[in-house]
Amino acid sequence: KKGFARIIEAHNGISALIANDANYMAGSKKIEFDGIWESSLTDSASKGYPDAEIISFDSRMENTRQILYVTNKPIIFDGDTGGEASHFEYMIKILEMMGVSAVIVEDKVFPKRNRLEDGTRQDLEDPKVFTNKIKRGKKVLLSDDLMIIARLESLIAGWGQNDAIKRAKEYLLAGADGIMIHSKQKTPDEIFKFAENYEKLCKQIGFRKPLVCVPTTYNLVTEDELIKRGFNIVIYANHLLRASAKSMENACQVILANKRSFEADPLCMPVKEIFKKVGFLDIKEKDKKMIKKKSSIKVIIPAAGEAKEMKDLLNNKPKALLDINGKSILQRQVDTLSKCKITDISVIRGYEKEQFKVENVKYYDNKKFNSTFDLSSLFCAKKEMEGSFISIYSDIIFDESIIKRVLDCDQDIAVVVDHSYKYHKHLIDKKLDLVISKESDNKHYRKMALPFENRVLRIGNKIDKNLANYEFIGIVYFSKEGAENLKKTYMDLENNHKGKFHEAESLEKASITDMLQEMIDMGFEVDIIEINQGWIEIHNKKDYEIASKMVF
Ligand code: SPV
Ligand code: MG
Repeated sequence: KKGFARIIEAHNGISALIANDANYMAGSKKIEFDGIWESSLTDSASKGYPDAEIISFDSRMENTRQILYVTNKPIIFDGDTGGEASHFEYMIKILEMMGVSAVIVEDKVFPKRNRLEDGTRQDLEDPKVFTNKIKRGKKVLLSDDLMIIARLESLIAGWGQNDAIKRAKEYLLAGADGIMIHSKQKTPDEIFKFAENYEKLCKQIGFRKPLVCVPTTYNLVTEDELIKRGFNIVIYANHLLRASAKSMENACQVILANKRSFEADPLCMPVKEIFKKVGFLDIKEKDKKMIKKKSSIKVIIPAAGEAKEMKDLLNNKPKALLDINGKSILQRQVDTLSKCKITDISVIRGYEKEQFKVENVKYYDNKKFNSTFDLSSLFCAKKEMEGSFISIYSDIIFDESIIKRVLDCDQDIAVVVDHSYKYHKHLIDKKLDLVISKESDNKHYRKMALPFENRVLRIGNKIDKNLANYEFIGIVYFSKEGAENLKKTYMDLENNHKGKFHEAESLEKASITDMLQEMIDMGFEVDIIEINQGWIEIHNKKDYEIASKMVF
């Protein structure tokens, strides 16, 4: 499409990254490479082998895959002879599937020898055998995305211009998407001559395909001259490998001579630059953000209501202060959070607020605790919702692993859910906060983390147990964005909503799950963080007894 493409060789991930990012500013014009050459010579050499089709097919594909993984430029694969036609078909299928843009296949007899060394055997393939290979290769293609370029070795083998142009014609008529003319002369004269004949040939056959050259030996020629002669692709076929090999040898010499590495340092790319190239600094930045997120995240615990169902046990205490083996639920929550480096914790008090003595938390009061529910309580700490925060029910005990999962969350809103409730017979009859999720794959007690993200469709305690997939454990994560949307939605509801609110008789009496359902219905995504252990809830005397045996 550009008319001219400049291609550079790469032989592994780091060389591909260097090729990918390389650019040169000529005034205000940025000059870059347009694509990458996966060379048989440098692929072999980088593994310490000669270029004679010794490296296996799988190894060449694996190397190509490494390059594809780290670059976004088109790749031209050096297909050598392509083997026999059946081999070539496999090569084509796989290259196309991998996303390679072109393959160059040469008309030599398998196994070929690299042409750069004088005196090596250079046997040319019978043109009929080679055209058959091209045709069969073209036939197995599923798209137009992989070009098959025929490489002429006539000039290398000393068979002359006439043979070259005769073969070019046959290859083009067989369907080749381009022609590469190869030469090992020190000057470009013979490829210029070929280019002249090529233009005549294209006029004669009525179509023209891109012309490719590899100016390794005739390297005084400039791209401008090549363009003028009609070349469309120039391949710098081995320079990154040769540059690195020379640098490596230099570094070895300098270290050996000095018996230390100080003098070698200026010869080497600084480690920091290597880290930058391979994305390590990027990981560092993301880690930093994560650490910042972790240490700055806030927790809000609504604990204002009176737990009438546990009156006997509580003895006029708020449930959060229920003592289990010498420590209140709230104190246990604060301790676990601080082990996860979360220290910014707000608790909303209401019923018997004077009894709250837990230290290192901020207290907010819900004066209307008698006539409202946990959503109203949560919003008593609206001030704390400036950035990301976690809201936690005041009647659960959880371990650090759950909070770590929450901190790893990349979503805007996510609820922690457990699918194991179905297997705990004694809990089945309790009024649970249940969840119906988009993907339902919880037929088995044990399972691997799901390979896809899962979303909440419905949440609440009036959901039919047979339809639910999960139990909501009472922990919700809101990112900064999620918190912003939560506040906006609540503000709007406060101003405009009247009457019943999801499962609640009014907004004032609503629970956090009602609010989540409201947001889901509006189109906000509420994701799932799935667990199956590491927490207990205290809803009744039986729970208390179980908890007393579990926590110390
Ligand atoms: C290669 O780079 O492997 C090539 C080009 O095939 S050349 O070595 O010049 O033949
Ligand atoms: Mg090669």
